Amino acid sequence: MGGWNLIHFTGFILLSLLLLSETCLASVRRFGSINPGFEGAQWDWIDNNGLFLLCNQSVFGFGFVTTPQDVTLFLLVIIHMDSGKIVWTANRGSPVSNSDKFVFDDKGGVSLLKSGSVVWTIDTGGKTVSAMELHDSGNLALLGDDNGVVWQSFSHPTDTLLWNHDFQQGMKLESEPGSNNVSYILEIKSGDLILSAGFKTPQPYWSIGRESRKTIYKDGGEVTSASISENSWKFYDSSKVLLWLFFFSSNVDVNATWIAVLGNDGVISFSNLQNGDSNGLSATKIPGDSCSTPEACDAYFECSSDNKCLCPSGLSSYANCKSGIVTSCDPSKGSTELTSAGDGLYYSPLAFVSPSSRTNLEGCKSSCLGNCSCVALFYQSSTRNCYMFDRIGSFQNSDKDFSSYVKVLSDGGSGSGSGGSRSKKWFPYIVIVAISTVLLICGLLYVGYRYYRRKRNSPESPDSFWENLSGMPIRFSYKDLQTATNIFSNKLGQGGFGSVYEGVLQDGTRLAVKQLEGIGQGQKEFQAEVTTIGSIHHHHLVRLKAFCAEGTHRLLAYEYMANGSLDKWIFKKNNEESLLDWETRFNIALGTAKGLAYLHEDCDSKIIHCDIKPQNVLLDHNFHAKVSDFGLANNQGAEPCFHYTKRNSGVPCTGVDHKPPYIREK
Ligand SMILES: *[C@@H]1O[C@H](CO)[C@@H](O)[C@H](O)[C@H]1NC(C)=O
Ligand SMILES: *[C@@H]1O[C@H](CO)[C@@H](O)[C@H](O)[C@H]1NC(C)=O
Ligand SMILES: *[C@@H]1O[C@H](CO)[C@@H](O)[C@H](O)[C@H]1NC(C)=O
Ligand SMILES: *[C@@H]1O[C@H](CO)[C@@H](O)[C@H](O)[C@H]1NC(C)=O
Repeated sequence: MGGWNLIHFTGFILLSLLLLSETCLASVRRFGSINPGFEGAQWDWIDNNGLFLLCNQSVFGFGFVTTPQDVTLFLLVIIHMDSGKIVWTANRGSPVSNSDKFVFDDKGGVSLLKSGSVVWTIDTGGKTVSAMELHDSGNLALLGDDNGVVWQSFSHPTDTLLWNHDFQQGMKLESEPGSNNVSYILEIKSGDLILSAGFKTPQPYWSIGRESRKTIYKDGGEVTSASISENSWKFYDSSKVLLWLFFFSSNVDVNATWIAVLGNDGVISFSNLQNGDSNGLSATKIPGDSCSTPEACDAYFECSSDNKCLCPSGLSSYANCKSGIVTSCDPSKGSTELTSAGDGLYYSPLAFVSPSSRTNLEGCKSSCLGNCSCVALFYQSSTRNCYMFDRIGSFQNSDKDFSSYVKVLSDGGSGSGSGGSRSKKWFPYIVIVAISTVLLICGLLYVGYRYYRRKRNSPESPDSFWENLSGMPIRFSYKDLQTATNIFSNKLGQGGFGSVYEGVLQDGTRLAVKQLEGIGQGQKEFQAEVTTIGSIHHHHLVRLKAFCAEGTHRLLAYEYMANGSLDKWIFKKNNEESLLDWETRFNIALGTAKGLAYLHEDCDSKIIHCDIKPQNVLLDHNFHAKVSDFGLANNQGAEPCFHYTKRNSGVPCTGVDHKPPYIREK
């Protein structure tokens, strides 16, 4: 009977802890609107997946979600609930941590703070704000005293247009910057909807006016707004008269929920979020030809319609279509000349920019050579138009009669001054010799480094072992752990994520080695997790001492707990006398609670355990309790325990539904 009381007591402490944290977070999700004097961080709404405001019909939510690159960083977004698609982002490029606060202050000012400094705020132009509303359309609005709209997210979209979002002149859609730091911009300008690359001098490459796939409803007129409907994008003039339609789907479904997204490749794609489908993508894209974005390939490469990228014939002698080519104005680089890039090359912005001058080819070439910022020119003989660019992306092939010239260094970049062609001939050899030398040196350094590491990490040398033990867990090779566990011969038990084996190092240190199974994690995620778990040190938490990540092997080595798990001591098979006296039981309950309280509330990267049961409370040789099995992220949804930061994936935390620890299992 005594055992039962102990378990009740432990359960009571654990439940009170859970309830306590629920109430002190106090963060109930609001519907429709919030009023000034509201603030909180991701951590406060963790039980609502970080969302704190839902529209009345719960189609959209507003709150924090993790970034795809780093689960400990968060963006403040409007999310489409069914599909999980992010449709608007407040702090693009400046993610915050789980404790950074969203503040809607008493005066109606809205801001997002990162370590105290403002990373995003709304300029209300000094107007008083009485409420923030999230409409069923996905529009986030700030209302003034008179209930008029002071600011709305629809007027400041990011890279997504929603169905029934009226995109008007003055608004701007901007893609996330791509790997080369270029973003693409969609805006209504001079009666047309224009897509351009955000270079220093923006370069338009598509417009609805020149789009041949559109359906003309009414001739003439200037576009001032556009909106997405059942299966088309509709363009209107200033008196709301329909001018053009662009069909992206042949199905007419009045309930379809289409969005248009401007990707970081400069392409607009359409997807239907109906029925929670996050990639109900339409095959119709803008622009229609995937080669006609300025950066379909790397700069100076030629994009062909089957999406191959080749260095054009005229530039093939320049290594990688790059070295020796002048890409920006830099007078210190030496003298320059123009070289023909090859025949039949075209550049999509040519259709949108106006010529720099009308002249002959020689005149065009000399104005480019005399202008430092000109890096490439296109000359059309039929019109005598000369086009100069201060930056170019990839070429397209076409049968239009353009000649293209690219600015290159006169000495081919080698500095030998002995004539471009000769140095170009030698260039590949120089590159090969240089690369081989570098590779050889790197190889030697790597071998040396490996040797040094093996020496340091080898469990055979106890001194370096103790040296390493002070900080983060140390890394073992798979072979070391095989030796330590005598080829995984002594199985201690089966925990979440894999089997646990006993291991002994040469210096006598005993370890519990957990072989992770089916965790399906990448090296990087595993490392992030080892870093998190390894940095948590507490008297009542089982300490991670070492790990191994080698090929597909993922192992974690914990400190050895001589008395095993609590269940062995309380769920006794036959009605033997209990081995635990009351003081020990009390200390175990207290220790468990302390360990959990630390995990939940006091450590730097807070972790919700979600799977507390006697099997996960381990006892050392003095019957000190230590909590185990925390912090491992669940990638497959099989076990109810995961890192709290991953809960935005839409999987609800099932930890609290789990069998209470005090219910005795058969
Ligand atoms: C949400 O519903 C309430 C009650 O029906 C209504 O008063 C409020 O205006 C609605 N809010 C929004 C943003 O639609
Ligand atoms: C990217 O562009 C922004 C603004 O255009 C600039 O501030 C930033 O330094 C750039 N970053 C890189 C890596 O080029
Ligand atoms: C659209 O939705 C309504 C209400 O949910 C439903 O009655 C109707 O059948 C749907 N229409 C189509 C074409 O699916
Ligand atoms: C120099 O070239 C740049 C880029 O092509 C162009 O914008 C500018 O007008 C040119 N300047 C002159 C004086 O021609």
